[in-house]
Amino acid sequence: MLLLGIETSCDDTATAVVRDGVRVLSNVSTNQDEFHAKYGGIVPEIASRRHAALLSAAVDDALTRAGMALGDVDGIAVTAGPGLIGSLVVGVATAKALAFATGLRLYAVNHLHGHLFAAFLECHEPPAYPFLALLVSGGHSQLVEVRSPTALRVIGKTRDDAAGEAYDKTARLLGLPFPGGPALEALAREGDPKAIAFPRHRPDPGTLDMSFSGLKTSVRYFLESAAGKSARPEDVAASFQAAVVDVLIDRVTRALDADRDRTPDETGYRAVVLSGGVAANTALQTAFRAVGASRNIATFVPERRFCTDNAAMIAAAAERRGEANRVDPRTLVANPNLPFA
Ligand code: KG4
Ligand code: ZN
Repeated sequence: MLLLGIETSCDDTATAVVRDGVRVLSNVSTNQDEFHAKYGGIVPEIASRRHAALLSAAVDDALTRAGMALGDVDGIAVTAGPGLIGSLVVGVATAKALAFATGLRLYAVNHLHGHLFAAFLECHEPPAYPFLALLVSGGHSQLVEVRSPTALRVIGKTRDDAAGEAYDKTARLLGLPFPGGPALEALAREGDPKAIAFPRHRPDPGTLDMSFSGLKTSVRYFLESAAGKSARPEDVAASFQAAVVDVLIDRVTRALDADRDRTPDETGYRAVVLSGGVAANTALQTAFRAVGASRNIATFVPERRFCTDNAAMIAAAAERRGEANRVDPRTLVANPNLPFA
C-alpha cells in the first residue's frame, strides 16, 4: 500500500508518504523546539496551536515531495494516541476530514506501535518474528515481545520515569538547553563515564521492570554536594549516561537469557529491536549491538531520523497491522491514554 502518515501526538508536526511500510518517499517534520525552549519543556497549548497552523501545509509538502496528489495514495494512517490531547486532536481531525472527503481508507495507529515498526523503514531484510523490542522514548520505557504485528506483549516497563524523561530532567539539572537528550549526549562525549558511580536501580530482581527516578535524584544530590560543585559537567553527563545504558542493557540481556531457557516454539526470539527517541543515542546503540553480537542474535536500530517522532513510522505500523487498525472516519476519536495492546 501507499500510505500518507500523520503524526502530531506531541510537539513534532510530522507527515510522510510510505510505500509498503518500508520505502519512505517523503518524511517531513517541523519541530517546535524554538517555541518551547524558553519554558524548559513542552507547553501543550503551544504545541496544539503550532500543529493547527502547520499541519495542512505539512500534508501538502509530504505529497509534493513524494511526487503525488492525495488521490494517488491508498490510505491515511494517523496517530490516535497516546499523547497530548490537544495535539492528537489536530492530527486526528485532519485525517478524518481527508478520509471522509476522499473515501480513502483510514488507519488509527498507537504512537508506540509506530516506534516499534520504525525498525522496518528502509530495511530490506526486516526483523523476523518473534522479536524482542526495547522501546525507549520521552514518555515510555518498555520491553515488548512481538510475536506478530498484532500480538504484542509488554514484558517489562519503567516503574517511574521514562529513560528519555530522565535524560531531559538531568539535562535541566546540568543547565543544558531543551530538548535535553541530544545536548546531554553531546556533553557526555567529552566526559569520563566512570568518574561518578551513580546507582543502577532494578526495582525487583524477579521482573524485567526498570526505574530511573532514583538516578535523577542521585544526580541532583551529587550536584548539590561539595564533590558535585567541583565536578566537571562532562563527567556528570557521561556517568549518568553510563548508568542509564547499563540499566537498559541489563534488562535486554536478562530478557534474552530468560528466553534461552524456553523452547524455540515457545518463543525463540529471532531478532532484537531498539526504538524510540532515546534509540538515537550512540552509546546506547553501541552497547545494544554488542549484546546482540554476544548472544548471536540480529539487532535492528532504525535510522536516526526514524528513532525520534516521525510520521513514516505511523504509516509503517498501519501497513503491518492492516485491518486491525482500520477505522471509520466518522467514529474515530483521539485517545490520550490509548492502551498499548
Ligand atoms: O520518541 P520521542 O521523539 O518522543 C516521545 O514519544 O516521547 O522521544 C523523545 C525523547 C526525549 O526525552 C529526548 O530527550 C530523547 O528522546 N532523546 C535522546 C536523544 N535524542 C532524543 N535521549 C538520549 N540521547 C539522544 N541522542
Ligand atoms: Zn515518540
